[in-house]
Amino acid sequence: MEFRCIPQALGEALHDWSGDTLAIGVFGGTDGTLSTPWQEDLDTWLGTDLLQALGDRGFKGKAGECRSLERLGQQPRTLVAVGLGEPENLDLGALRSASAAAASAAAAARAEHLALALPTANLNGAAAAGALAEAVRLSLYQDQRFRSEAEPLTPPRTIALLGLPAGADAGLEGLGARCAGVELARQLVAAPPNIATPEHLAETAAGIASTFGLELKVLERSDCEALGMGAYLGVAQGSDLPPKFIHLTYRPAGAVQRRVALVGKGVTFDSGGYNLKTAGSQIEMMKYDMGGSAAVLGAARSIAELKPSGVEMHVIVAACENMISGGAIHPGDILTAANGKTIEVNNTDAEGRLTLADALHYACGLEPDAVIDLATLTGACVIALGEEMAGLWSNNDGLAGALRAAGSAGGEDLWIMPLRSSYKAGLKSPVADLKNTGPRPGGSITAALFLQDFVTKGLPWAHLDIAGTVWSDKGRGQDPAGATGFGVRTLVNWVLAGAPLGPAS
Ligand code: BES
Ligand code: MN
Ligand code: ZN
Repeated sequence: MEFRCIPQALGEALHDWSGDTLAIGVFGGTDGTLSTPWQEDLDTWLGTDLLQALGDRGFKGKAGECRSLERLGQQPRTLVAVGLGEPENLDLGALRSASAAAASAAAAARAEHLALALPTANLNGAAAAGALAEAVRLSLYQDQRFRSEAEPLTPPRTIALLGLPAGADAGLEGLGARCAGVELARQLVAAPPNIATPEHLAETAAGIASTFGLELKVLERSDCEALGMGAYLGVAQGSDLPPKFIHLTYRPAGAVQRRVALVGKGVTFDSGGYNLKTAGSQIEMMKYDMGGSAAVLGAARSIAELKPSGVEMHVIVAACENMISGGAIHPGDILTAANGKTIEVNNTDAEGRLTLADALHYACGLEPDAVIDLATLTGACVIALGEEMAGLWSNNDGLAGALRAAGSAGGEDLWIMPLRSSYKAGLKSPVADLKNTGPRPGGSITAALFLQDFVTKGLPWAHLDIAGTVWSDKGRGQDPAGATGFGVRTLVNWVLAGAPLGPAS
């Protein structure tokens, strides 16, 4: 897929363009009136009253609505109308959804040369161009790796973005690298647990390191033992597969302004352990329990290629499986984490926080300016927020705000959740420093509070619970059904912005 912006006025741009499929964004008012800022240009060029024709066919211009009109023997042979809702509600998210819908319709019509004419109102031109193009590419992503006979849908070869202001093409810069990171994350998450093993994650990190010149350290079980990572190794001990503790480092050319650590939960399969997951607990989907690690590795892949200045980035994954065997931890075991704290494992299914405890302590030992962890940590977060928003907990309001902004620019929504310290009482253990599982109510909050115990006091830290957003059964906006690659866009935007700890100034 090759993207370009055509910065002329729409009438001229259409005159010079000779593709086969044109997608047009159409606003729809509450009273059912259709509108586009280019009505005259379009009508002249098409030789018909387009909005009238759409209205006659019951098109309302609602956000998400999409209608293909085939024109036999004419150029372009396919018109795709996409609804944009009311003009005053247009934002980058609505543009992304409309662009994705148009792309799917165009691909279904076997478009080869597609043009998108979506009005961007007073949105920033470059941001709009980036969002439109990213949505096309990411929504047409297909994964046929595990079929013996692939039936891929061929995406359009060229995509022209029409009607954008001059300079909008700056938004296409780095598009390939950004999308490749999301796609890598999707591939890792979608791969089954017999393929995406801890070793596979380490090999993926090695691939990124050698392709783009990053530093990689992989700690083996014995190395982790030497560092006292009893919480992480406790989870790993029930599996026949060796744990891999991955530490990938990106160092920018020139001066370092910010040092950040990104930690991802990398449980490549979560059976629950002896607190075995039961029917209805989605045990067959627990390949996606490494979604946090996929997000940080995907971000590493993007950043490694984009090579931003000023930010040194550490990507950390304590990868392992949560399995059952004669050697697995028992419910009730007491583990000692690398920071010396003892943990009563009252539930072996709360394993993510055990792996993250040692990973966060390791990350803090690097003395970064900020630590962010991403994890498919709790079913409680899915119940609270559903699949459209990840939960965000932070000890630093500036960092939380900056992450929300980075996320929303990429079409990933984060919802700020409370780090309510009184709930820590729920993690009191009668025998150890703390237990790993609190009461069911507020389960995603006690999980976050547990993690906070392993983060250096005062160090800006944010925790993203992506349990609901890592996977979409039906697909949504720019994410087709399956693994979403959630988190990569947020992290990449944040790092590219210089890893701010406050609002953009
Ligand atoms: N990986 C799960 C969380 C999860 C559940 C992710 C559903 C995606 C969908 C995590 O390890 C887990 O099992 N959490 C338990 C914690 C409980 C035992 C306190 C949960 O949420 O039920
Ligand atoms: Mn679990
Ligand atoms: Zn888990």
